Amino acid sequence: MSKLAPSILAADFNRLGENIKEIEAAGVSMIHVDVMDGMFVPSISFGMPVITSIRQETDLFFDVHLMIEKPERYIKNFAECGADAILVHYEACSDLKSTLLKIQDYGKKAGIVINPETSVASIKKYLKYADTILVMTVHPGFGGQTMLEGELNKVKELADIREANSYTYEIEIDGGVKQENIRKAYEAGTDVIVAGTAVFNGNITDNVKNLVSEISG
Ligand code: DX5
Ligand code: ZN
Repeated sequence: MSKLAPSILAADFNRLGENIKEIEAAGVSMIHVDVMDGMFVPSISFGMPVITSIRQETDLFFDVHLMIEKPERYIKNFAECGADAILVHYEACSDLKSTLLKIQDYGKKAGIVINPETSVASIKKYLKYADTILVMTVHPGFGGQTMLEGELNKVKELADIREANSYTYEIEIDGGVKQENIRKAYEAGTDVIVAGTAVFNGNITDNVKNLVSEISG
């Protein structure tokens, strides 16, 4: 059984609170929150004020994916506005170990994110400090892209390393998840599967039900 983490980047921002209530009623336990700064990735999405606002509406677990340069500058802000997990990019962070420890000092789960061009080997020495490893299955910056299915090999690699070393991190993927390929992500051993457009385009309740049914058995 894997968990589905709907990415609110694909929600209707005019009805964000209602969209979140709808996925909550459909039975999900977490949402994925994509923060983009226009530097690390070309897009700008939203930041602390939006997270503070939706935190008042729900107790869902907030999985906050920081696509920002030097995320270490903002750990306190995201911890205080309601994040439950804070995930930072290996490629954007100047001192990854201390950033992960800082996130944990605030009582939050700490995650490492790797882009498609980054190997698992390059983060090997940091794995012991992480609660989550997020494997990007698209180049970050936009929703609605096609999954790079070859990236699922990293999930298997991370699962093997976890077993060999008795590590405890969860393995997550993000990007291009659809009804047609979510089963493949699940079978690769993914613990948390992010989906944006596949959840929010069309009927949200039906989409959640259909996606979850693929990863429940
Ligand atoms: C991409 C974001 C993803 C994105 C996923 O930069 O990190 O979380 O919202 O969207 P879909 O599921 O539409 O690919
Ligand atoms: Zn994301």
